[in-house]
Amino acid sequence: MSAHLDHLESFNQRFADADAQDILAFAHETFGDKLTMACSFGVEDMVLLHLLSEAGLKVRVFTLDTGRLPESTYIVMDQARHRYKMEFDVYFPKTEVVEALVRLKGPQSYFDSVDNRKECCRIRKVEPLSRALSGKQAWITGLRAAQSVTRRGLPVFEHDEGHGMVKVNPLTRWSEQDLWDFVQQHNVPFNRLHDEGYPSIGCAPCTRPVPGYEKGREDLVDIRSGRWWWESPDQKECGLHPGSKGSAQ
Ligand code: ADX
Ligand code: SF4
Repeated sequence: MSAHLDHLESFNQRFADADAQDILAFAHETFGDKLTMACSFGVEDMVLLHLLSEAGLKVRVFTLDTGRLPESTYIVMDQARHRYKMEFDVYFPKTEVVEALVRLKGPQSYFDSVDNRKECCRIRKVEPLSRALSGKQAWITGLRAAQSVTRRGLPVFEHDEGHGMVKVNPLTRWSEQDLWDFVQQHNVPFNRLHDEGYPSIGCAPCTRPVPGYEKGREDLVDIRSGRWWWESPDQKECGLHPGSKGSAQ
């Protein structure tokens, strides 16, 4: 349990108008090697990798490889390895559990019901996440308040009750426009699916393009509507972020 959980309100006041760089530097100074970053290689996470690298902050970064990621995610992961000279800790789901799931329910059980979809996310993402966070006190994410109804009001420093840790969301106040301006200005590598109509990218079978989406324009479409598109908006969390303020789960 992090000793800093009692101070989150004051951290949030202190960093109310702070830049993402300052938030990252403070998190690094406060949590040291007990800090980690969760990276899905979406545009938010690419911006965070760039900021960490520019500031020379040595933070271990992990990714959850569900076994169902799009090819373009591996491509941008490799670009990031070279560009930022970073190592990524990759967590896979437990082999025997995935084998049992697919044997009993088939490879597309997530389409059958919300419960089945959450079961797949639990096996492929949530359980590996708990291993990735083990022994840490804080984790950095690329969550933003503007992403969805479930993330409205998301603070920079958050109590992750499920893991008894601090969650740090340096980009919570960033807009889509801020992200893509930054990417352009600093020539940050990004997943090519963002150019093909995908505002948000998760597993290949559960993500599709959003008609009318243009990079930098979250006013045109619901930017998470391509994720688990067959479910209603208030259910679109996979269990990685169940306690995030305003979350429906
Ligand atoms: S999700 O819960 O719907 O999948 P989303 O794709 O919006 O999350 O990503 C929000 C943040 O969760 C990312 O910026 C990243 O910090 C973390 N995250 C999501 N997917 C992964 C993943 N596969 N591996 C590591 N971190 C992830
Ligand atoms: Fe399974 Fe889809 Fe969740 Fe990926 S997003 S873990 S494929 S249900």
